[in-house]
Amino acid sequence: MQVGIDRIHYYTSNYYIDLADIAKARGVDPRKFGEGIGQTQMSVQPPGEDIVTLAANAAQHILNEKNRSKISMVILGTESGIDQSKAASIYIRSLLGLRNHCRAFEVKQACYGGTAGLQMAISHVKCNPTEQVLVLASDIARYGLGSPGEATQGGGAVAFTVSANPAILAMDEWNGYYNEDVMDFWRPNYRNEALVDGKSSVKIYIRSMLESWKIYKEKSKLSFNDFTRFCYHLPFSRMGETALSKLAKAEGFRLKAEDVANLLGPALKYNQVTGNTYAASLYVGLCSLLDHDCSDLSCKRIGLFSYGSGCMAEFFSGVVQKDYQNYLYTTLHQERLAARQKIDINLYEAFYNFEYNKEGSSQRIDENYMTGNFKLVEMKDHQRIYKAL
Ligand code: CAA
Repeated sequence: MQVGIDRIHYYTSNYYIDLADIAKARGVDPRKFGEGIGQTQMSVQPPGEDIVTLAANAAQHILNEKNRSKISMVILGTESGIDQSKAASIYIRSLLGLRNHCRAFEVKQACYGGTAGLQMAISHVKCNPTEQVLVLASDIARYGLGSPGEATQGGGAVAFTVSANPAILAMDEWNGYYNEDVMDFWRPNYRNEALVDGKSSVKIYIRSMLESWKIYKEKSKLSFNDFTRFCYHLPFSRMGETALSKLAKAEGFRLKAEDVANLLGPALKYNQVTGNTYAASLYVGLCSLLDHDCSDLSCKRIGLFSYGSGCMAEFFSGVVQKDYQNYLYTTLHQERLAARQKIDINLYEAFYNFEYNKEGSSQRIDENYMTGNFKLVEMKDHQRIYKAL
């Protein structure tokens, strides 16, 4: 029995800032962000948009009368949790009107959380083939204002259903895992922004990719040329391009720029304008690939690399299903991105510096800022109050 991704949808916030404006405000050469790290814009979340609203907005489009009654588990992978105890997936399950008789929980391992969710979902569906799992990966990437990581912020969510006989991507049975106890990126409970050792995080990403590929290759007996396309975890798009070139080099190939563009280019498009989405990033890349690739990818194998700092890495793969094009949300994705509103550096910094009330007294959140169909409207008695519009 084949198990994999049956529907997938990506959502990002309604606001973005041009990285040229960040460069100007920080006195940095704008080519560093464009040519250097491969990014042009990043999504910015207004007050009222958090990982719950992002994920609920991502999920609502993939739910229909047929799959709603089959969903028996809702898993959320995130680095930007809103509560130390309660899983955000419970708020999301409720906002989406999914039945109470299902498991709902949250998993964490930096940007690897979405993949942990996918792998758990696959095991669950293999044991319960008539059921489906809703996997959510939702994050808001925050580094310090003016820090080297600032231009690699962003935010968004991906929702996908995992089922038997999936319409989009049937997962292969082989996985290469690797983890190491390192401090390349972390966020202590008392901080809203990540701490990062940027240069070493890039080296550890590459090392972990090569280690997990080695195990994947041993198990699968496949080689580099068995993959038609690749999707990588993308903290910024140049990271994926560098990693793919290093993988090819380790396998004895020297990729030209046009080879990298062909093998990975379509998967980078959304990341270049929305930025890092941590746990969602690999799956934003998958949406981007399926929406932008001009060739028919039916029956083609895609290599996927997931990386969560700290660190946990996994190389795995899937085969694109026949007629997958009929199940994509390409128009919706592209209309949403085109409708985003550009903001200036002052509003970006105001959004960044906005703080939710920590004392428990009531705080109304300005409802004039646009979100999708779900909104955080109030903080009251230390609780978040959401509204479905
Ligand atoms: N014109 C053109 N290119 C320029 C340039 C200019 N004027 N100035 C610099 N560049 C190039 C540099 O040559 C460099 O390219 P190469 O890597 O190919 O040499 C690139 O732009 C970046 O420049 P620096 O390395 O000097 O930049 P930096 O050190 O200030 O910041 C960073 C880079 C460390 C990655 C920083 O963005 C950062 O800390 N980001 C957050 C951490 C991160 O994303 N790590 C990635 C791996 S960890 C992970 O994947 C998990 C996760 O999601 C966080």
